[in-house]
Amino acid sequence: MLVLGIESSCDETGLALYDTERGLLAHALHSQIEMHSEYGGVVPELASRDHIRRTLPLIQKVLNDAKLALSDIDGIAYTQGPGLSGALLVGTCIAESLAFTLNVPTIGVHHLEGHLLAPLLEENPPQFPFVALLVSGGHTQLMKVTDIGEYELLGDTLDDAAGEAFDKTAKLLGLGYPGGPAVSKVANQGKKGRFKLPRPMLNSGDLNFSFSGLKTAVLTLANQALANETDSDLQTKADIAYEFQEAVTEILTTKCMSALRETGLDNLIVSGGVGANKRLREQLNFATKRKLCHVHYPRLEFCTDNGAMIAFAGAQRLKALEENKLNHSFTVRPRWDLAELQKPQ
Ligand code: KG4
Ligand code: ZN
Repeated sequence: MLVLGIESSCDETGLALYDTERGLLAHALHSQIEMHSEYGGVVPELASRDHIRRTLPLIQKVLNDAKLALSDIDGIAYTQGPGLSGALLVGTCIAESLAFTLNVPTIGVHHLEGHLLAPLLEENPPQFPFVALLVSGGHTQLMKVTDIGEYELLGDTLDDAAGEAFDKTAKLLGLGYPGGPAVSKVANQGKKGRFKLPRPMLNSGDLNFSFSGLKTAVLTLANQALANETDSDLQTKADIAYEFQEAVTEILTTKCMSALRETGLDNLIVSGGVGANKRLREQLNFATKRKLCHVHYPRLEFCTDNGAMIAFAGAQRLKALEENKLNHSFTVRPRWDLAELQKPQ
């Protein structure tokens, strides 16, 4: 079954073709980062307009790359939510209209399920069950995953998400948008031990997280350390970024190891934008190896938003559905709790 995947929930237009027999055949992405960067964050109206401009040419591109035609498509998967309503509506509307003309079924995919399953696109994917750390711009969750659609929430953030903390720290330090890669790049120049930031909830005894206190601690530290503009500003920012990244990655790693211990499982998958963080990967690789566990990541480009994860998640659900959706009326779900998902039947 050949599935076209369309991702348009935020600031990336992602398209992909996934075949249930042959795997991922093609994928293409247009990032709007440059367009939004002058505003310091995503402007929803501009995002929607750009998805409109990009989606059809990108569909043509993936078809050309895979040497396939529209008529080869057996089903269409699109991000139905959560995300920006206008942006979601663009992908949804194109998916449903195209499916109507091709007379193929559609499936609305939960964006986070897309992220969650992205590591399964790689070679030697883990078997169910496994523990999943989902670290995106809006979510920091630990889950026990027993099957597609069977997600038991083990821990969640009580306030900010880890990605959000990276974004806010970048803003505070004047490092630009998106914050994760910017903080990480500057942190590479940082010196160990100059500053000390707290590790909130590290020893809370549960699997929950809290990052808003850390953000406030960065604000206080930055205000003190950068009070007078001097030549050493850049180094100071790098030292703060270094310690911030150490704090976040230590918390995430510790909680992942606790989740593996508590569930008795030995496979961990990491997904979402923060999963691209090099230091997080170093720490997780080290910690899991020590405990004879395995950690699986998506390739770097599939940590952040992309069409491949939507095509893949959609294909798993379309394949399992007894009755495929051929009625092409639609709605999007800008707010959508992952816990509402059920196993396809
Ligand atoms: O999964 P994603 O692309 O979008 C959402 O669904 O939210 O995640 C975006 C988040 C942003 O907060 C971004 O700053 C963060 O992932 N991020 C990173 C890195 N790359 C992206 N955080 C830390 N290190 C990175 N290398
Ligand atoms: Zn995402």
